[in-house]
Amino acid sequence: MPPLVETWQYGDPGRPYVPEPPQHAAHQAYDAKELLYGGAAGGGKTEFLIAAAVFLALRIPGSASIIFRRTFPDLKRTIIPRMLAKIPKTVATYHHTDHTWTFKNGSTIELAYLRKETDVLNYQGAEYQLIIFDELTQFTEFQFDYMATRARAAGAVLALMQAAGVSSRIIGTTNPGGPGHHWVKARFVDPAPWGATFTVPPTKDQPKPRTRRFIPAKLADNPHMDPSYEDTLDAIPDPDLRRALRDGDWDVLQGVRFKQWRRALHVVDAGMIDLPLVDYPRIVAVDWGIDAPWCALWMGLLPDGLVYVYRELYQAGLTSEEQCRAILAAEAEGERAEGRPLPLIMDPAMWARQHTSGSEKPLDPDTPPPGSVAATYRRFFGPSMRKANNSRIDGWAAIDELLRVRRDGLPRLLVSELCPNLIRTLPALPRSTKRPEDVDTDAEDHAPDALRYGVMELAGGGKRRVTTTVTRRAAPPVTGSLASTAF
Ligand SMILES: Nc1ncnc2c1ncn2[C@@H]1O[C@H](COP(=O)(O)OP(=O)(O)OP(=O)(O)O)[C@@H](O)[C@H]1O
Ligand SMILES: [Mg+2]
Repeated sequence: MPPLVETWQYGDPGRPYVPEPPQHAAHQAYDAKELLYGGAAGGGKTEFLIAAAVFLALRIPGSASIIFRRTFPDLKRTIIPRMLAKIPKTVATYHHTDHTWTFKNGSTIELAYLRKETDVLNYQGAEYQLIIFDELTQFTEFQFDYMATRARAAGAVLALMQAAGVSSRIIGTTNPGGPGHHWVKARFVDPAPWGATFTVPPTKDQPKPRTRRFIPAKLADNPHMDPSYEDTLDAIPDPDLRRALRDGDWDVLQGVRFKQWRRALHVVDAGMIDLPLVDYPRIVAVDWGIDAPWCALWMGLLPDGLVYVYRELYQAGLTSEEQCRAILAAEAEGERAEGRPLPLIMDPAMWARQHTSGSEKPLDPDTPPPGSVAATYRRFFGPSMRKANNSRIDGWAAIDELLRVRRDGLPRLLVSELCPNLIRTLPALPRSTKRPEDVDTDAEDHAPDALRYGVMELAGGGKRRVTTTVTRRAAPPVTGSLASTAF
């Protein structure tokens, strides 16, 4: 095979693009119709794919390439400014309206996004010699498979490609993680030794499977990256996601979600935190259930950003009224009183109407519609209740951050031994097989869901943080005293 154009002057003769060895291998891997170049964050994936598209455009006059990101803001943040900075106007022009580069030799590079799964159908009948998905795990396998059928050449372009020793191909670049982690891993990472081109046995759906290859990208492969970037990756609180992104490890995003949980660190004796809890912002976080258990967790935000879960109720089969009575019965005298707010942060599903009464939608989103579970709660608790921020991935990430042990040797989440179901189910919760940053929603997740609602409110940037009118006493940092007494 004749050598490819491997240096591209980017418009800045002082800093030409010279591929690092794995990028070089990926540029040359024409024996694979489908290529995945993936792994660690910052490994040089986006740099490679832009160069791959530009090489083909320069090399094969009249050729067409397309680069996908999942959303337009993604393109706007990454690909578009980088291409504008690197491709001189003397080589190609960028048309903002249709996001297309037109090269002087007639080649084009389109930039596109696929918001809905079926948006690929817009490409019916299209023909590209190079199709690229940046951050492939953000896409579905259907989208990838559909577009793969569009990777082909004909006529003069095909003749030029044959003469140059290159062929049409589809390239994905990605980090592990994301909603498509499992299909991408199963398709590219698991079947064969890394770096080798392979084919899988034909099936009814795919009688002629295309050749595939996975080239791993590591941060260490990219000497151009700012060395402090590794520190940024080291600060990711979920240890498995950290390994996945820092080391390009595809295997760690399996098994349980909260591996950093340690009973000896995160569980404390009921009497250990000897503080007047009413002085601190407190909430009751509620996950709804009738047939499945319902869970209420009492939580306080103590100095040093320490979240303390101090009581739990966990039971199936209670009506809404019985749940409210159980909450009130569990509380100590004076725990909830005038001037001592103890708001309920509740599963947004509790606002769903059970019996529609045809009344108008309340103006305040926290006002429960008549007939809803929340309306029953309101009879008991008045207006001091609100919908939890239900952003799942952010909520789990906030729990990761609290579980992390800080320099003082302590985490920022402590659970009283009086919460046996949270202590039992949080460490057992499996990762989702659909989206590794999430948990498996078929698992027993009621106490962790309640914890997530509470944590988002107290520490994770819930829509509205708890505001209290209580005067806080000047208290010594809790973690300081715990460090000497507890551990
Ligand atoms: N061969 C190279 N020559 C010069 N600079 C490079 C090269 N490869 C990568 N870089 C630079 O290294 C940095 C990281 O590269 P890039 O953005 O391509 O990594 P990435 O793997 O796409 O990262 P992410 O995982 O964050 O998407 C960028 O500033 C890029 O310009
Ligand atoms: Mg990138």
